Amino acid sequence: MVYQKIQSLSEQFAKIHSQSFNQKNLKYSSEFILSLLKNPNISYIYKKNKGFCIFSCNEKEAEIITMAILPKFRNQGIGFLILKELEEILSEISCNTVFLEVASNNLIAIHLYDKLGFKTFGIRKNYYSISKNNKVNAILMKKII
Ligand SMILES: CC(C)(COP(=O)(O)OP(=O)(O)OC[C@H]1O[C@@H](n2cnc3c(N)ncnc32)[C@H](O)[C@@H]1OP(=O)(O)O)[C@@H](O)C(=O)NCCC(=O)NCCS
Repeated sequence: MVYQKIQSLSEQFAKIHSQSFNQKNLKYSSEFILSLLKNPNISYIYKKNKGFCIFSCNEKEAEIITMAILPKFRNQGIGFLILKELEEILSEISCNTVFLEVASNNLIAIHLYDKLGFKTFGIRKNYYSISKNNKVNAILMKKII
């Protein structure tokens, strides 16, 4: 039963993910998402048929692995709401720090993370390939809750 549930969720998340990222190499397959959800240190927040966030939590540190909102539901505050909910969950379990990684050209996501108080603490140069000869940096951000 539990397995069927996470399998169905993986398929729903993969559909949302594939509509959320343009580059093939950034899209998560349902198999990959299933492998994440089977990990006991990994959990998710899901706004049904709209968007989701997958995160890991190890002792005092959490990491946002991915998040995506279907294009037609963007700019309605759902991303903000999910991240606020994540902060509440993490503070309940005394997980004080949350990390994430975002492509430097993803201005909408960076705006959202800035607004929530995430601070840049590092850069991985030329980390994401966005086309054959074009790479962008990864920006590493964290927030102390
Ligand atoms: C990033 C993402 C999750 C945000 O979700 P969302 O539900 O649209 O987020 P919200 O509605 O809470 O906030 C969006 C903010 O971006 C702003 N925004 C919209 N277009 C923008 C642009 N071109 N440049 C900068 N900011 C922009 C909105 O005005 C809003 O900010 P505001 O509340 O201060 O006005 C969503 O855009 C998405 O799924 N993107 C594709 C996948 C992705 O990039 N995931 C993150 C990977 S790290």
